[in-house]
Amino acid sequence: MHIIKVKDYTEMSRYAAQHVIKTIEDHDEPVLGLATGSTPEGMYNYLIEAYQKQKVSFENVTTFNLDEYIGVPATDENSYHYFMEHQLFKHIDVDPNHTHLPDGNTDDPQKECLDYEKALEDAGNIDLQVLGLGLNGHIGFNEPGTPFSSRTHVIELDESTRKANARFFDRKEDVPTHAITMGIDSIMDSKEIILMVSGEKKKEAVKQLVDGDISESFPASVLKKHPNVTLIVDHPAAELI
Ligand code: GLP
Repeated sequence: MHIIKVKDYTEMSRYAAQHVIKTIEDHDEPVLGLATGSTPEGMYNYLIEAYQKQKVSFENVTTFNLDEYIGVPATDENSYHYFMEHQLFKHIDVDPNHTHLPDGNTDDPQKECLDYEKALEDAGNIDLQVLGLGLNGHIGFNEPGTPFSSRTHVIELDESTRKANARFFDRKEDVPTHAITMGIDSIMDSKEIILMVSGEKKKEAVKQLVDGDISESFPASVLKKHPNVTLIVDHPAAELI
């Protein structure tokens, strides 16, 4: 795992956006794996700015998002569909038929997981997967204990994850209990991965990632087995490494 230490959130976002743009430039039909949460918001802003300055086109880009809550309509501002539409998709020239998120509102989540895996397979492997890091080491919504062999699946969210994400909801009770997430093995199929981590509150998780063992009890540790992963970490989050 390469480690790039940057000054702050702004530098992390810029560095990651440049990496995404390079991947788009290097491929005729780039496939990007995208993440939600606070971490990638700044990166999306840089991508929108680059698009507006005609420095990048998303015309031939296909995207797959990591995860979606179960039971939250796509029109709800807490859904990851809504997040992606408003943070990125509506501002750029990406073809809506080429943007994929798991459907968390389906009557048949198990079938949705299989369909999502099929769509991933049909697109070929993801060229560049963007990841954030949960406080408990989750990637996507793969909570501690998720088998490294997992493919796209339904997951029950940890209490700590629901608490961490409660800031987006009016009441903690409104935070969904379940989600659909790409599995750890699905993520590991990506040709390249960048993991962005920012802020003092993630410093323990970063230390665990860098210095700890590779273990299913800390899902992100699996990334140390991948041949092409870059951790982009800002100084506050890198304080203990
Ligand atoms: C969320 C998402 C993850 C994200 C992580 C960190 O629950 N499912 O994909 O990377 O937790 O979130 P944040 O970037 O807001 O700290």
